[in-house]
Amino acid sequence: MSSIESVMNETRVFEPAESFKAQANVKGMDGYRALCEQAEKDYEGFWAGLARELLVWKKPFTKVLDESNAPFYKWFDDGEMNVSYNCLDKHLATQPNKIAIIFEADDGKVTKITYKDLYHRVCTFANGLKALGAKKGDRVIIYLPMSIEAVVAMQACARIGAIHSVVFGGFSAKSLHERITDASASLIITADGQFRGGKAMQLKPAVDDALAMGGCECVKKVVVYQRTAGETAWDAQRDVWWHDAVQGQADTCEPEWVNAEHPLFVLYTSGSTGKPKGVQHSSAGFLLHAINTMRWTFDYKDSDIFWCTADVGWITGHTYVTYGPLGIGATQLMFEGVPTYPDAGRFWKMIQDHKITTFYTAPTAIRSLIKLGADLPKQYDLSSLRLLGTVGEPINPEAWMWYYNTVGQTRCPVVDTWWQTETGGHMITPLPGVHGLKPGSCTMALPGIMAAIVDEAGHDVEKGKGGFLVIKRPWPSMIRTIYGDPERYKKNYFPEDLGGKYYLAGDGANCDLDGYFWIMGRIDDVLNVSGHRLGTMEIESALVANPLVAEAAVVGKPHDIKGEAVVAYVVLKGARPEGEDAKKIVADLRNWVAKEIGPIAKPDEIRFGDNLPKTRSGKIMRRLLRALAKGEEITQDVSTLENPAILEQLKEVVK
Ligand code: PRX
Repeated sequence: MSSIESVMNETRVFEPAESFKAQANVKGMDGYRALCEQAEKDYEGFWAGLARELLVWKKPFTKVLDESNAPFYKWFDDGEMNVSYNCLDKHLATQPNKIAIIFEADDGKVTKITYKDLYHRVCTFANGLKALGAKKGDRVIIYLPMSIEAVVAMQACARIGAIHSVVFGGFSAKSLHERITDASASLIITADGQFRGGKAMQLKPAVDDALAMGGCECVKKVVVYQRTAGETAWDAQRDVWWHDAVQGQADTCEPEWVNAEHPLFVLYTSGSTGKPKGVQHSSAGFLLHAINTMRWTFDYKDSDIFWCTADVGWITGHTYVTYGPLGIGATQLMFEGVPTYPDAGRFWKMIQDHKITTFYTAPTAIRSLIKLGADLPKQYDLSSLRLLGTVGEPINPEAWMWYYNTVGQTRCPVVDTWWQTETGGHMITPLPGVHGLKPGSCTMALPGIMAAIVDEAGHDVEKGKGGFLVIKRPWPSMIRTIYGDPERYKKNYFPEDLGGKYYLAGDGANCDLDGYFWIMGRIDDVLNVSGHRLGTMEIESALVANPLVAEAAVVGKPHDIKGEAVVAYVVLKGARPEGEDAKKIVADLRNWVAKEIGPIAKPDEIRFGDNLPKTRSGKIMRRLLRALAKGEEITQDVSTLENPAILEQLKEVVK
């Protein structure tokens, strides 16, 4: 909390330059307020107007918002459209030869694809998928590296009305298995491997392992894109090369016209239980917000070259790689590799070489690049940049200032965008031609987004006082349900304590006297490690699944680069290990978690105790564990502890 208070003492305000404001899509506070008022006066009319302006409808909608089965809201429900049509076909008449994607491979090789070519690639692959039996409503798992093929696969699913579920390539076979079975997927699209940092890494073995875990009878085919061309184990009945699947297929494909509410995708994310939840999004509402935020937040212009560094395995990659930029007709850069290969200047070189105008990345990347070379950006020509953005976690004012001064050369507004997997797109963010920027604040809610801060009973809190961040009215790109678990959706996001009608974001926040929002972090057992969401329970379940472990508790602790680090307290079935023994078990357990979930979930620290500190009723004292992790003085009442000596044990980090 103290760091938040210091952030909130930030008094610097950086106003947009007059020249930026003059050309902005939303101009000045007056422009912003006019939109907000429009939304307040006629909420449905406001969203309906945008949906008519920004989407192409096969059958126009007549109903806007259906609240009859709240909180299962429906938007534009009697309308029909297709997301892929809106991202590709829509542009064929006006800009067929515009570059849609500039792809830079790990080794620096650049491939460019026009809208027309991308359209044909998507159609051909969509026909290939249909020939393999995929159809509207089927769930398709996509486990691919950053590649044009990843976008083609997602767009092809959208084209035929199949529901994709992209799994980040860094997740393990076990995580993949969990998602395949939860979604009952009938098809998997993967690659033989991927290149990162000059190395070829295999990907398909994780799919083979996941399918061998059982319960995957639903999966009929695995389509494999050949990227690394190494040795690949093959099941001739089940596996099909991508290049064979498209062989002889027509390069046009009539889109499947779907209802506006037809699910576009399910994306798994961590919650406060051990099981990730499948966040389900709609077609029209999701795409509408993706396109509109390209226009408002990123101030999109035809001449822009947009670069969002997120992997398509995360929501940021869905909204601001696959759908938003294509929906609005942008040229964008996609990058296969890592920011440090061949050296830490890679991002800056790419901005220079491709004349990037709009650059969107995560605070954790900014912090690690500062560490690797705070002066490096000065060696490159970054004069093409006109707008910068951040996403995924709070940005500390020091990192913000560096980004603003050194990367943006004080010329580029920085949009600190607050949103979530569940919200589908930006919610609280500066508009670059509108808001004076305060480093560390995501400023104000977008027009039409009714964000507020409330107390435990759902009452608005006074400005300057912290509370729960809620959204008071449904919005088009919101989560529709948790796949296969509507009850969990209701309980999780629309709790009765708050009257059952506000969307509870799961973040604590503060609104200052100027009406600026400051995000304080999660209020549930969710960690934010390098901008990635991880459930503490998920990591705990992974640890206790190890035969050596009796009990485990996981908490977060502040980390300079990653934002939060994972600290695990572990009780073994045998004696508390010491010395070399302890070191070996730590290494084994870290690898174990990487195998169970993925390398991103590896605990940074493991501490062993004879027991965990618990209350009389047997609840783990997590606040105490968080204080211990931070190395703070223990001020809490520990009189209920059976064995106070364990506190000393739990202070000890095995190095
Ligand atoms: O805690 C907030 C944090 O990331 C969470 C959402 O994580 P995820 O669903 O993985 O989506 C990340 C990308 C949209 C939020 O509950 N968060 C996201 N953006 C910000 C943020 N915290 C502070 N400032 C942000 N700009």
